[in-house]
Amino acid sequence: MSAIESVLQERRVFPPSEKTSASATISGMDAYKALSAEAERDYEGFWGRLARETLAWKKPFTKVLDESNAPFYKWFEDGELNASYNCIDRHVEAGHGAKNAIVFEADDGAVTNVTYQDLLTRVCRFANALRKRGVKKGDRVVIYLPMSVEGVVAMQACARIGATHSVVFGGFSSKSLNERLVDVGAVALITADEQMRGGKALPLKSIADEALAAGGCEAVKDVIVYRRTGGKVAWTEGRDAWMHEIVENESDTCEPEWVSAEHPLFILYTSGSTGKPKGVQHSTGGLLLWAAQTMKWTFDAKPAEDVFWCTADIGWITGHSYITYGPTAIGATQVMFEGVPTYPNAGRFWDMIAKHKVTIFYTAPTAIRSLIKASEADAKVHPKSYDLSSLRILGTVGEPINPEAWVWYYENVGGARCPVIDTWWQTETGGHMITPLPGATPLVPGSCTLPLPGIMATVVDETGQEVPNGQGGILVVKRPWPSMLRNVWGDPDRYKKSYFPEELGGRLYLAGDGAVRDKETGYFTIMGRIDDVLNVSGHRLGTMEIESALVANPLVAEAAVVGRPDDTTGEAVVAFVVLKRSRPEGDESTKIANELRAWVAKEIGPIAKPKDIRFGENLPKTRSGKIMRRLLRSLAKGEEITQDVSTLENPAILDQLGEAR
Ligand code: PRX
Repeated sequence: MSAIESVLQERRVFPPSEKTSASATISGMDAYKALSAEAERDYEGFWGRLARETLAWKKPFTKVLDESNAPFYKWFEDGELNASYNCIDRHVEAGHGAKNAIVFEADDGAVTNVTYQDLLTRVCRFANALRKRGVKKGDRVVIYLPMSVEGVVAMQACARIGATHSVVFGGFSSKSLNERLVDVGAVALITADEQMRGGKALPLKSIADEALAAGGCEAVKDVIVYRRTGGKVAWTEGRDAWMHEIVENESDTCEPEWVSAEHPLFILYTSGSTGKPKGVQHSTGGLLLWAAQTMKWTFDAKPAEDVFWCTADIGWITGHSYITYGPTAIGATQVMFEGVPTYPNAGRFWDMIAKHKVTIFYTAPTAIRSLIKASEADAKVHPKSYDLSSLRILGTVGEPINPEAWVWYYENVGGARCPVIDTWWQTETGGHMITPLPGATPLVPGSCTLPLPGIMATVVDETGQEVPNGQGGILVVKRPWPSMLRNVWGDPDRYKKSYFPEELGGRLYLAGDGAVRDKETGYFTIMGRIDDVLNVSGHRLGTMEIESALVANPLVAEAAVVGRPDDTTGEAVVAFVVLKRSRPEGDESTKIANELRAWVAKEIGPIAKPKDIRFGENLPKTRSGKIMRRLLRSLAKGEEITQDVSTLENPAILDQLGEAR
């Protein structure tokens, strides 16, 4: 039996690492239990204490939690603070101005160090430039930028003047960008000429121009452009301005706008099971508190010695909480990377860890799985070929990590010295929720273990009753927590229905994931989404969103989208399509499948492209006309159909749809 097989069979428990346990912020299970007990005993006292200890308040809050308009909760509402002051100024004031805030490595390997003092200057100048353009407290600013210091500066500058940013991932299409600009009611857009990924320049400004031209965003008065590559771009006089030009004559100081803790720090769009993406609205005080607190707890980050690296993009929540806000809020040094893990070769991550002496490394299972494959094919890019001895903590996020990948990560990247911290959380939760603690929790591969102190997570059945350990159910959080979303932007009804459904009693936060707790330890294992949301490479995609994109194509009559497990990306998108004309065969079907993939990339973004497209003359429907998605899921997986198909109107269709394109 191989080492991995025995781990899987025994559900082997890995002790918390000897390298971290003694000096950890939360050292040992007793310390964890004591903090959890404090939260149980005096919930508001616990959160109030953390908020006072962790953040700098211009005006202290007098009330911790307001539940009078539940589920619209308010935290620390009469307290005033500024996120950018907390993330930058206070470290400079404490004498750490010369410390590196960001060590930026570009796609081509060029490294730029940005100290806290540099960051302060750049944020102030840009914030002043935004103010000069009339951007003010409460305005929404959309940021469509590559991984860049400029991205962090733009976000922090918005926070400094009380503007609410909404970052749109640089891989989204002009249509997706347009929808977000319109929904959020943006007054300004910050973008770049192009982005560099894997040695290639990809357009951004031209996509942004298209998005703006598509209508509905007349409120966007300013388009500010970061010059990344110097590539040629179209220019609209009076609207467009270069970032480097507008900051030139600005002052190095900028008085922060002190805002209520409840002031919206950002809105970040994420896919839901129905309709258009939801604008998840986060608060200033709550988000910042938890981003900072979890840096200290989950990552055990010690600003004086650690070098933290989160590989996520700033276009996702992970980049918000664990690049822009968390590491800076605690005054840590972090590595930020522009490129992709496979360029110039699949050893890039390991090379960068060695080069920058990274101590805490946070990435996604999908990246780990693709790097396992690459290192099997080429020993030169195997982590063991690099000096990774600086590492002390490894984190993972975005999807369930399969135990095989966990063990590989533990043994090969950490060299069996570093705990693997499997963090379960979501765009909506703002920060980590269920996760091991490096110095305390015994680890079980594939389990995110236990909720953090103060997080009242549990598993319930469809009526909201808690189920016993060992029984699967629906993952919920029983009490509000500071970094939770505050609303779905402009749609409070959707907020209530999606996250606090009446079926569960209206007060439980519904995460949308299935989970089971271990009989003995109570450890959580996440079993994936229970709604029509797919998780591809750690990114959420609504099946309905992809279906609507497909049916918008003039060739398509009907489409149904499901997920199937994929070795690298976790899940893959499979689309079942009925064309308006007859079912294509052979080369023609390959050609149309490719056309439809390109179409989806244009409508949503390349991440949503179906891996398989299958054409049928029809979709499997019941006599009442309902598409039988269960059957489609089995077909997508290549399983034999064992389900009862007697209610199916057209059983013959199943043969046609079994064929992948
Ligand atoms: O299904 C869960 C999965 O990712 C979803 C949240 O996606 P998103 O909002 O895009 O945020 C991703 C980064 C926080 C969850 O509902 N998920 C995330 N982390 C894990 C996970 N599933 C299992 N284990 C995890 N550690």
